[in-house]
Amino acid sequence: MRPARPLAALFALLLLGAAAARAQEVPAAGQEDLRCLGCHGKPGFKKVLSSGQVLDLFVDPTFLRLSSHKERRCVECHADVNEVPHKERPQRVNCRRCHYEGNTAGAPQGERYLDFENSVHGKALKAGNTKAPVCQDCHGDHNILPGDNGRSNVAHAHVPQVCGACHLQVYAQYRESVHGKALARGVKDVPVCTDCHGEHTIARPEETSSSVNAGNVSNTCARCHSKVAIMEKYGVKAEQVATYQESFHGIANEFGVLKAANCSSCHTAHEILPEDDPRSTVAAANIPGTCGRCHPGANANFAKGRIHLNPKDRSAGVVYWVSLGFKVLTIGTLAGLFVHILMDLYRQMKGRRRAEGGAGPAGETP
Ligand code: HEC
Ligand code: HEC
Ligand code: HEC
Ligand code: HEC
Ligand code: HEC
Ligand code: HEC
Ligand code: HEC
Ligand code: HEC
Ligand code: HEC
Repeated sequence: MRPARPLAALFALLLLGAAAARAQEVPAAGQEDLRCLGCHGKPGFKKVLSSGQVLDLFVDPTFLRLSSHKERRCVECHADVNEVPHKERPQRVNCRRCHYEGNTAGAPQGERYLDFENSVHGKALKAGNTKAPVCQDCHGDHNILPGDNGRSNVAHAHVPQVCGACHLQVYAQYRESVHGKALARGVKDVPVCTDCHGEHTIARPEETSSSVNAGNVSNTCARCHSKVAIMEKYGVKAEQVATYQESFHGIANEFGVLKAANCSSCHTAHEILPEDDPRSTVAAANIPGTCGRCHPGANANFAKGRIHLNPKDRSAGVVYWVSLGFKVLTIGTLAGLFVHILMDLYRQMKGRRRAEGGAGPAGETP
């Protein structure tokens, strides 16, 4: 039911370390909260449900006091707990009690999370899918912090784990990919789930508005792969986007032929690997299979040669020479034309002078 819980525990541990270091700075819980903490503040406070499941009811107020919600009282979020002791098991917290447009609580409002309702997750929730995430499944509960805080659940490096709690298979693939491996090494320039999918705007790939729709994938990859400043740090060429856009597939895609290959048709979305990794879909031995998905019967011959062809690069082979040939031909033709024009001008001027020479003396006689 609440898949983010084990994860929350993990982040709670992280927070605990930080909390110990800053213990003196943590403000004490408000008077009002002490009513709740009389029970929930006791380490080991729990309840065994009739199903045998153990409900951990201990709350360490330190986390809350170190979070963005340090000024919030327990009952501002747990608004249905209006008597102590309380009888009913409280409902899940509704973050939108405060986080809505024009709220007076001072909850920051970016259009970002207001989009959530229209995301695939928001729609799934509305349709009654209890497995779809609510705000706290991604953000945590008593430990909520903005994303630019490294300890936040939604900090860049933590995002794959947060999404992966539900999207297990994709997470497993991503971790093995060139991007996932680099992230694990601490590289910050690689994409996590939200760099490609968005945060509160996540949509199914079939929707044209989606950043991972076939018509938009190349722009999504281009945000990094067309930038020399990013790519040269990792020894990756930044020309792949341009060479794709100039390719048959790129042009067809630009004109709305979405069945033409985009970056992830050949590289996959979550299992992207460098060409020298034998598991890669773009490793030489696997290319016929990769093209064969759309070009039935594609053999090694069909797929021979480089895919990303830069005509300015000698390694492009025939394309380089043809391109060079065209360049020579064009320059040659233009030069010929120029010489022709010059000669023509010279001839005309000569002719005019000769004509003027003949008419001159005659004209001068009054
Ligand atoms: C007398 C002890 C006691 C006090 C005081 C108390 N609670 Fe509880 N609380 C419990 C028990 C026992 C449960 C287990 C719920 C159940 O199944 O009835 C619980 C459950 C909860 C839950 C739900 C936990 C879950 O996972 O479903 C929340 C939230 C909660 N309490 C919040 C509060 C707040 C906020 C206050 C202060 C206004 C408060 N409690 C005061 C004993 C207490
Ligand atoms: C910013 C909102 C917020 C505030 C403030 C807050 N809680 Fe919670 N609390 C949550 C959320 C979110 C959960 C996770 C369950 C859910 O989705 O409702 C939770 C879970 C709990 C639980 C269930 C056990 C657990 O740790 O998961 C208890 C008990 C609880 N809160 C008590 C308290 C008490 C006591 C306070 C005040 C010291 C407090 N809460 C303040 C949002 C809040
Ligand atoms: C009682 C009102 C209230 C509730 C309920 C509430 N929030 Fe907040 N939230 C705030 C306020 C106020 C701030 C601004 C805190 C500050 O900047 O001092 C905030 C800050 C935040 C931030 C940090 C934003 C930033 O840019 O600094 C996030 C993320 C957040 N809330 C998410 C949540 C989530 C998720 C829930 C539900 C579990 C929730 N909030 C429930 C009032 C609330
Ligand atoms: C699918 C996961 C997910 C869900 C569900 C989700 N968020 Fe977010 N949220 C994120 C991520 C990721 C960020 C970006 C953090 C960053 O990089 O700044 C974010 C950012 C935010 C911020 C801006 C804080 C900041 O980091 O500057 C607020 C406020 C916020 N979310 C509130 C909400 C609320 C309210 C809901 C429920 C209506 C919600 N979120 C649902 C993942 C989620
Ligand atoms: C609490 C579980 C949960 C979390 C956390 C979660 N998702 Fe989802 N996600 C779902 C469910 C459920 C669906 C809807 C599946 C359906 O209706 O087919 C879904 C749908 C999607 C889809 C559309 C899938 C499709 O087949 O079209 C994408 C993309 C997606 N999620 C990405 C993410 C990303 C990225 C994150 C993290 C920022 C994330 N999800 C976090 C449960 C979750
Ligand atoms: C490099 C960009 C990129 C990253 C990073 C990425 N995705 Fe995707 N994702 C895509 C693309 C592109 C598609 C559409 C693939 C298609 O149409 O076949 C997709 C499709 C999906 C789908 C729906 C189809 C499916 O395969 O189930 C889900 C769910 C999903 N991604 C979740 C995630 C999660 C979770 C993460 C992080 C662990 C993640 N993605 C990271 C680009 C990315
Ligand atoms: C947020 C930036 C970012 C986005 C978006 C992104 N990448 Fe990358 N990508 C990188 C970085 C950085 C590396 C280098 C990682 C390393 O070598 O450690 C990389 C590596 C690669 C490599 C391996 C290159 C090599 O020679 O090792 C391929 C292939 C690749 N990305 C394809 C894609 C595709 C396809 C997409 C879109 C579906 C995409 N990337 C989206 C940043 C990005
Ligand atoms: C038709 C299939 C196809 C498409 C579409 C495609 N690629 Fe490639 N890509 C390849 C192949 C095959 C290689 C291996 C080298 C070669 O043949 O050029 C490669 C190599 C790369 C490399 C270097 C990786 C390495 O290890 O050398 C990057 C980075 C890359 N592509 C990114 C992209 C991006 C970004 C897009 C979309 C803008 C894209 N590719 C579109 C097939 C494709
Ligand atoms: C996602 C499907 C898809 C993949 C994968 C794919 N292609 Fe294509 N390709 C197309 C489509 C569709 C067209 C035709 C576009 C049109 O005619 O409008 C095309 C056209 C071509 C053309 C030019 C027209 C022709 O038929 O001669 C070549 C060459 C080509 N592809 C080579 C490749 C190679 C090599 C690979 C593998 C590295 C590959 N393609 C992978 C879909 C794909």
